[in-house]
Amino acid sequence: MVSKTSTPNTTPETREELRPRQPKSITGEPVIEVRHLKTHFPIKDGVLQRVVGHVRAVDGVSFSLYRGMTMGLVGESGCGKTTAGRSILRLTPKTEGEVLFKGQDVYALNRSELRSLRPKMQIIFQDPYSSLSPRLPVGEIIGEAAREHRIVPPEEFDDYIDRIMQNCGLQSYHRDRYPHEFSGGQRQRICIARALALNPEFVVCDEPVSALDVSIQAQIINLLMDLQDQYELTYLFISHDLSVVEHISDTVGVMYLGDIVEFASKEDIFAYPLHPYTEALFSAIPIPDPDISRDRILLEGTVPSPANPPPGCKFHTRCPRVKDICRSQVPPVYEAAAGHRVACHLYAGCPVVEDEAAAPVLLGEHEHNVKGPGSSADAET
Ligand SMILES: Nc1ncnc2c1ncn2[C@@H]1O[C@H](COP(=O)(O)OP(=O)(O)OP(=O)(O)O)[C@@H](O)[C@H]1O
Ligand code: SF4
Ligand SMILES: [Mg+2]
Repeated sequence: MVSKTSTPNTTPETREELRPRQPKSITGEPVIEVRHLKTHFPIKDGVLQRVVGHVRAVDGVSFSLYRGMTMGLVGESGCGKTTAGRSILRLTPKTEGEVLFKGQDVYALNRSELRSLRPKMQIIFQDPYSSLSPRLPVGEIIGEAAREHRIVPPEEFDDYIDRIMQNCGLQSYHRDRYPHEFSGGQRQRICIARALALNPEFVVCDEPVSALDVSIQAQIINLLMDLQDQYELTYLFISHDLSVVEHISDTVGVMYLGDIVEFASKEDIFAYPLHPYTEALFSAIPIPDPDISRDRILLEGTVPSPANPPPGCKFHTRCPRVKDICRSQVPPVYEAAAGHRVACHLYAGCPVVEDEAAAPVLLGEHEHNVKGPGSSADAET
């Protein structure tokens, strides 16, 4: 019998460096298309539990995501990242908008159609401790849903689970052990194996390493990248850790109070952050070179409540570049450079993007003729 605190005979967790990422290219149709997605939670009050307002957790998000790509989703705590991920998967019901998985309207499916689609769209949670049943052996945790959905014929099932475990860095003799016998990193491998066993195409990774010791985070990121290459997985990667997002993503969306305020290729958004919020957020990223310093932009004030967001641009109460128009008019989304979209009045001279989900998604770095708000010259207004 193994004691609760030990991690016996399991693969030792070693410190690992992040491996370089394989270059990606966009092919075919989007795996995920999200249009004007809104998820509002009712606020109830009084004995009669009357609805007195709504938390506008997701408030009109649009984007598309192609096969084998990773889109990073960043923003302060409470801006709606998890709710967006869950509503895309139809785990938290949307209020408005459309989610298409390979052209299929996820919210138009009936119960049995949704059940068939479920394995294809998976989620990996932040906390590998609470998301594993303590009473089931690991082999059962990984294989339970795969067996239910008949992912492979019964005679191939054991070999299949062994293979999945090996691909996730788990030994097949771990099958009969229980979650408490594993370290945090190995538990996250179990969660990943459970999702992978369902042969998914799209995976929401919701802060998959933030609960783990820094020394083993790279192992899990490397595993996610390896599995993406091997199985052509498409990821929505939610994280507070901008360095990890920069490493793993192809495109990045920045959320503020339920909206995507900026979207571009990873290279463009990190080289040319255009929205004043993105600029402030990215100014906090530490630079590894001690000879280079960056001025950190400290935003004044607190994040307004998503139950009562400010009118006009929702960021206007904290924006160092606020103009009169910002207080009353919601900025449209402008294409400030090829594939680089920004919802900010500073870019009013640029073309307006009418349908963000249909707008071209470009990878790599592109020429930018507009300057970010922190540069010496402002954008044309
Ligand atoms: N089930 C719910 N009922 C009511 N409000 C909710 C519910 N889930 C989330 N919210 C609210 O919606 C907003 C967005 O929450 P969400 O968890 O999506 O943010 P997040 O960006 O994932 O934050 P974090 O970075 O802290 O994980 C928050 O104000 C949160 O309190
Ligand atoms: S629209 Fe105005 S308030 Fe909003 S980010 Fe741009 S400059 Fe700032
Ligand atoms: Mg979250």
